[in-house]
Amino acid sequence: MTYPRKHLLAIEGLEPPHIADLLDLAESYALLNRSGKTQRDLLKGRTLINLFFEDSTRTRTSFELAGKRLGADVINMSVSTSSVNKGETLLDTASTLNAMHCDLLVVRHGQSGAPSLLSQKVDAAVINAGDGTHEHPTQALLDALTIRRHKGRLEGLIVAICGDIAHSRVARSNMHLLTTMGSRVRVVGPPTLIPAEAARLGVEVFHDMKAGLAGADVVMMLRLQRERMSGGMVPSAREFFRFYGLDAEKLAYAKPDSIVMHPGPMNRGVEIDSAVADHPTRSVIGEQVEMGVACRMAVLDVLARGLRRNV
Ligand code: CP
Repeated sequence: MTYPRKHLLAIEGLEPPHIADLLDLAESYALLNRSGKTQRDLLKGRTLINLFFEDSTRTRTSFELAGKRLGADVINMSVSTSSVNKGETLLDTASTLNAMHCDLLVVRHGQSGAPSLLSQKVDAAVINAGDGTHEHPTQALLDALTIRRHKGRLEGLIVAICGDIAHSRVARSNMHLLTTMGSRVRVVGPPTLIPAEAARLGVEVFHDMKAGLAGADVVMMLRLQRERMSGGMVPSAREFFRFYGLDAEKLAYAKPDSIVMHPGPMNRGVEIDSAVADHPTRSVIGEQVEMGVACRMAVLDVLARGLRRNV
């Protein structure tokens, strides 16, 4: 295992062997999870704290499950009932958790860079569970694992990431990971939702679904993140769906064996039609969630190895 760092704060900067090793380890956990032999004591005696300042269903639950399956003591800190509501700062909250000798700190925060800041202040290994519009590294890992399981590789695949790219940390982590692993990444959406940095990230930009999906192996849909938008960046949900929502007609532009992905939560009828989201052979959305547990087990595993070295 070549993972070189104490923390997992971003995909940017990781090299192909680091990513490949994490995916290989996650694959082994996926097989174990399917076999029902889920219990391990790799993290016995270690404490994992989930510190989520933004809502989550998939990420928080799968980190909890991953930690428990590896034998850790897992604490889900409820920010809404914590002393954050009495004005305690992020850094003071982190210092408090640090004093309790937490080993692994999983952080989701609305501000880009918050997990990185915390990592400089605490002894624990910090995992970014999504920070602002910056990155969501474990989501990109689980997406890559899901793609690899269906297509057998990442290199050379055409992956179309569609919708609200500008506000999506999922898109940013996926752009870094997939281009690093040799995929041909396209971003597809209205000009207002494509970030200026797209070209720098080595991806192709499309504003038309027909052109953007032509020949794609993977179609990844993203939610409109209205909570991060200032002003009218998009027309009505109905009009957005007409031009950029994925339905059977638009999916037909992609390869006949292309897979449909969505990180969730989905807004059905806005960025994706139910017939496509629930398609029995093309949609891999449920498998993405399953791979989320496996990838988070792999990440906790490698970071725990680093902790052992630091003991
Ligand atoms: N994909 C994702 O991060 O989902 P949650 O917000 O439910 O964690």
